[in-house]
Amino acid sequence: MGNVGAKEIPELFGPDGLRTDGRRPDELRPLKITAGPLHQADGSAFVEWGFNKVMAAVYGPREVHPRHLQENNKAIVQCRYNMAAFSVDERKRPGLDRRSQEISKVIAEAFESVIFAEEYPRTSVDVYIEVLQANAGTRCAGVVAASVALADAGIPMVDLLPAVAVGKVGGKLVLDLNKLEDNFGEADLPMALVPQSGRLVLMQMEGHMHRDELGRALDMGVAGCRGIYEKMKAALRDRYAVAPAASSEVSA
Ligand code: CDP
Repeated sequence: MGNVGAKEIPELFGPDGLRTDGRRPDELRPLKITAGPLHQADGSAFVEWGFNKVMAAVYGPREVHPRHLQENNKAIVQCRYNMAAFSVDERKRPGLDRRSQEISKVIAEAFESVIFAEEYPRTSVDVYIEVLQANAGTRCAGVVAASVALADAGIPMVDLLPAVAVGKVGGKLVLDLNKLEDNFGEADLPMALVPQSGRLVLMQMEGHMHRDELGRALDMGVAGCRGIYEKMKAALRDRYAVAPAASSEVSA
């Protein structure tokens, strides 16, 4: 244990340079994506990422509620990010707090910039993100789940939207912070990438890092997003893979 100010900081790297969960600084937590687990929604996805478990459901394009939000020349994207009361160590008070509202807003804006909204005027694309278990990085897990759910719903988009946080922990840059690193690190920088163009459509930073580190953090995050992108595409391929046709030969 080190002691910086009043905060007891646990060791976040072993003598081998590996993190508390055994990862290298640029390594992602295990990520499993299931496309289309819900049958009532138009599209859905379940993401298990480290100890995070996040479900996303998408409806639309459909009629806008409330009506006054309707736009005559394009679809709007409405997002609700919600953490279940049982998703964190200390029971979270149910309902939309300020944090959830902020996350819902930045995620809706990220998707607005990749969905071909002009194709569906006067409609709404509704994205629901339910965090069932949280362990840092839930907004990124929510973006990944929602993105696969949108593709599952057949909503036309420029590209899928992989997302990941880069952090600064014990003076080092690390990819995909876990909860301990999030609690005791110096910075947390979640981002979402449009892989085809290299455009970042969500980026937030908590904490502080040097401007030289910021460039390296972005490179690390973009590389992480590219790995996540492959898993997102694989999940959709698994969902829509056509089983090879049974042999038509009939033995006499
Ligand atoms: O989840 P994300 O990293 O996107 O957002 P955060 O605001 O940086 O929260 C980091 C983590 O703190 C969450 O993933 C949860 O594990 C935890 N948290 C919590 O325990 N109780 C809350 N009300 C909010 C967050």
